[in-house]
Amino acid sequence: MPEKKFQPPKGMRDIYPEEMALLQQAFSKIREIMRVYNFKEVEPTKVEMFETLAAKSGEEIEREIYAFEDKAGRRLGLRFDLTVGMARMVASSAYAKPIRWFCIADMFRYEAPQKGRYRAFWQWDAEIFGSKSIYADAECIALGCDILSAFGIDFEVRVSSRKLVEAIMREIGVPTNKLLDAFRCVDKLQKLSKDRLLEEFERRGIDKKMAASILDALNYRGDFKSVMEEVRNKFNSKEVKNALDELVELEKALRSFGIDDKCVLDLSIVRGLDYYTGIVFEAYTTNKKALGSALFGGGRYDGLVGTYGQEMPAVGLAGGMERLMEVLKAENKLPEVKEEVDYFVAYINERFIDRAAEVLARLRKKGFVCEMDIMNRNLSAQLRYASKINAKKVVIVGEKEIKEGKVTVRDMKSGEEKMISVDAL
Ligand code: HAM
Repeated sequence: MPEKKFQPPKGMRDIYPEEMALLQQAFSKIREIMRVYNFKEVEPTKVEMFETLAAKSGEEIEREIYAFEDKAGRRLGLRFDLTVGMARMVASSAYAKPIRWFCIADMFRYEAPQKGRYRAFWQWDAEIFGSKSIYADAECIALGCDILSAFGIDFEVRVSSRKLVEAIMREIGVPTNKLLDAFRCVDKLQKLSKDRLLEEFERRGIDKKMAASILDALNYRGDFKSVMEEVRNKFNSKEVKNALDELVELEKALRSFGIDDKCVLDLSIVRGLDYYTGIVFEAYTTNKKALGSALFGGGRYDGLVGTYGQEMPAVGLAGGMERLMEVLKAENKLPEVKEEVDYFVAYINERFIDRAAEVLARLRKKGFVCEMDIMNRNLSAQLRYASKINAKKVVIVGEKEIKEGKVTVRDMKSGEEKMISVDAL
């Protein structure tokens, strides 16, 4: 192997053919599910104006944007998700609502790379614009469930409500101007120890006593009914009641879609992006040995599209392709993608290379996957190569074949050979 002198930048990954084949197969599976949900495929631009990206996403993600200036001095950034770009697109269009769009593409985030966390990664993403209905939220969760189920992954979706968490925080006494800070701290609940988390609250101007009550209140995870009961017993503001009513509706919708057994209510899920306004959710594998980070995440963001020029409710979700692949690998569930070649066209002597090229062109017109020797190899080396690339058959062009207007076809499995006319291939 040659020395690896030139490496991709830290956190970036090249995709080699074996992985690309797996990814493409996975994309097809996801596209098929998007199709039955009637989502239409779009792609927002990879490069956005920096202010578009930064408008509502929050301080954490803003730090992670790959930002640069173009030659005319414009401040630009690489997309860190697809929601922002689609929200901007939809804000300046007039499609019939609800608008159901999806995209599968690569993102860029300047994060600290670790297992399952890269600086460039692929997401599948679906968004529903223009509907306030809780059934749109439920449909997004159902879509995520159908995608993970299609890959045979065991998972649970942790659902929460930003409205409910906000109402609880208000009842605890968090002032309005500190709510966003409190959300940002709660989002770190899984990443930091309790002490570090309390310090983080304090750093943001929320004293430890109040922070401890917040953490206490959000420490509920379980089936919808029992968690809601706990909350009802402790909090009683009108806002809490309204948010709980919405969760009752959501639970009903999840039941109708047949995915209630996949969902738990977990108030510690608030999501790291600032644009969320309502129901939020994240999915995790239930396999304790596999990756601990989210397989998909999403929620309602009714204020974002308005930022780009047209008020519109919206809800959506996105899942990471690398994480999906890592879980499949850990569970030995990666499908075997064997890319077969129909024909390898070999020739006995270089004098016959043009006849081989003619045969190759005819095979390709018929739609066969094929290639011919372009390495100047002798016949036995050509045959060795043909078997390496899993060619099912080898077409051999030689003097005798040319004289008779035929070719020899060797079946690579049985070793059987016969001479036939090219048209019979
Ligand atoms: P997110 O939670 O930032 O949400 O990302 C969605 C998914 O992308 C994650 O659950 C994870 O599977 C994957 N992901 C995120 N960051 C990385 C990374 N650094 N390396 C590998 N995979 C990663 C969003 O992006 C929202 N736009 C989702 C959404 C759509 N909300 C509403 N609509």
